[in-house]
Amino acid sequence: MSFIKKVIIPVAGFGTRFLPATKAQPKEMLPIVDKPVIQYLVEEAVASGITEVIFVTGRGKRAIEDHFDHAGELEFFLEKRGKQNLADQIRKISGLAHFAFVRQKEPRGAGDALLQVQHLIGNEPVAVLYGDDVVYSKTPCLKQLIAVFEKYQKPVFPLERVSKEMVSRYGIIGGKKIGPRTYRIERIVEKPSIEDAPSRFAVVGKYILTPKVFSVLRELKDHVNYHEGKELVPTEAFARMLAQGEEMYGYEFEGVRYDCGDKLGFLKAVVDFGLRHPDIQVGFRKHIKKAANGRK
Ligand code: G1P
Repeated sequence: MSFIKKVIIPVAGFGTRFLPATKAQPKEMLPIVDKPVIQYLVEEAVASGITEVIFVTGRGKRAIEDHFDHAGELEFFLEKRGKQNLADQIRKISGLAHFAFVRQKEPRGAGDALLQVQHLIGNEPVAVLYGDDVVYSKTPCLKQLIAVFEKYQKPVFPLERVSKEMVSRYGIIGGKKIGPRTYRIERIVEKPSIEDAPSRFAVVGKYILTPKVFSVLRELKDHVNYHEGKELVPTEAFARMLAQGEEMYGYEFEGVRYDCGDKLGFLKAVVDFGLRHPDIQVGFRKHIKKAANGRK
């Protein structure tokens, strides 16, 4: 049994990369075939042993609360029309975990989002999932990280090797390989230029953190120039913790990662999940083949 029971999912961001689709709906509710991105994340957490899901939300994100709420009328409606399977699927969503919703009052970054819910965490390790990163894998990505945490009892980050052109979009680590897929992290830099990147290993938006991170975020939070659009970025706290001698680990997880915060990444997810979806895979495969041949 894992002793990581809580996950924080920051979902207050505007989703500007998907405008106008996200003008009146949260980007986390965009569907990959028939399930919103956010449900994939919650299911990953639950399949990894998490029982408490803490969302840090903002204005315009109420659809996320509704999605994880009980929808009695809808279930009744489906049952009356003999759609029992669908009714059961809908019922299960609100029972996936205990849910809490806390609002982040200003868009001050993911580091600030974590501080908004520190009081719900206490002195225990916690998982964090960003709303964008969906991983398709046999063993849930978070579960793979928890296994590493159980060995070292220190923060753990999932790593993905990215191309040179992509390093400036992610947190990039430098470190030593200490075991299969496992790295001891020595440096971490947020969105470096190609020249400054310590490696090509990007940190995917799923963390296991120890309570120490909250005190470091508090030290940093008053030194951020929010007026100039700067944010409290967790990577800065991780870098400070490393400088203070804190151990941190990286794990090259097994699975395919989709960056659903990006149009191309999101479309790749839709295509791949569509090709696996039992309801549509035959027709969709035919369509994709045709499209790839230039639709002659
Ligand atoms: C955030 C983190 C970055 C990480 C990325 C993963 O960036 O700051 O370190 O690599 O998520 O998706 P953002 O996507 O908010 O720009």
